[in-house]
Amino acid sequence: MLLKNFFIGLSQNQLLNSLAQKYGFKLGAQSVVAGTNIEEMIESVKELNTYGISCTIDNLGEFVYEKEEATKAKKQILDVIEAIKVNNVDAHISLKPTQLGLDIDYDFCLSNLQEIVAKADSYDIFINFDMEDYGHLQPSFDLIDELSKEHDNIGTVIQAYFFRAEEDIQKYKDYRLRLVKGAYKESEAVAYQDKRVIDSNLVALIEYHLLNGKFTSIATHDHNIINHVKRFVAENNISKEKFEFQMLYGFRKELQHELAKEGYNFCTYVPFGTDWYGYFMRRLAERPQNLNLIAKQVFNK
Ligand code: FDA
Repeated sequence: MLLKNFFIGLSQNQLLNSLAQKYGFKLGAQSVVAGTNIEEMIESVKELNTYGISCTIDNLGEFVYEKEEATKAKKQILDVIEAIKVNNVDAHISLKPTQLGLDIDYDFCLSNLQEIVAKADSYDIFINFDMEDYGHLQPSFDLIDELSKEHDNIGTVIQAYFFRAEEDIQKYKDYRLRLVKGAYKESEAVAYQDKRVIDSNLVALIEYHLLNGKFTSIATHDHNIINHVKRFVAENNISKEKFEFQMLYGFRKELQHELAKEGYNFCTYVPFGTDWYGYFMRRLAERPQNLNLIAKQVFNK
């Protein structure tokens, strides 16, 4: 727990974030980040597609408090949408509202998102709204409600550690949803802290959405939960078309390929870009053993 808090603290450190970008401290991030530009990222996506794995692409970025920076991120995401279309790859977009200006001004963020969602809709490309920390949860749902009035190529994430997750999943059951445990440090006033409780809540949410909802993305590296889902769908005659498994780029690669080979829909979350620091630190916070993966990358050159 101490280590987790340490890495989450580092992930929110703006000075280290800017130093990491400025001086290019790679720290092994390249093993879990698919390149720093669109060309490199598209090559990674093409490779994953050859294994029958689809991708959700995240143009990395957070700590955005300047309009100029949010506008730059919007342009970059529009370019990614164009690249998906031009290269005809099997991929969609994951984005974070704070990268598009949620901390600057709600209406400014909404208008950035409108542009992105409309362009993606015109190409029939799906946009997933990643969910961030509790403070951004309700405003993110508000943005989704607003954008859904005109577009249906939108989905989001339900984080199982929140007390309100059950209510949210019922409200958003007609959406394509990604279900996760939750990656941020949250207070005990709003979120479960016990790992076992979070795990069993995630299982309950997955079962609910598989039985009652639209398409379900089960986003976890936890083989116990994956095996449970495999049994649950078989017992309940749930078609493989109704769900997919998702994992992060660079993690449990063998299991990713194995699931795709077994005929399950599989989607890899592909982060790319120069602003990799916060993402990288949160992965270390979730599982300090991830340091092994990174150490191998640094020393096996
Ligand atoms: P967890 O880390 O709890 O591990 C459970 C067990 O699985 C471990 O004890 C170990 O046995 C095994 N395991 C896990 N990782 C392993 C590895 N690398 N190698 C070997 N064994 C391993 N969060 C959020 O708040 N908002 C979001 O929008 C998203 N989006 C998102 C997308 C995708 C595609 C994924 C996979 C995850 C997210 N998350 C997220 C992060 C999520 O909330 C969660 O923090 C992480 O996925 C870590 O939890 P896991 O369920 O993967 O297993």
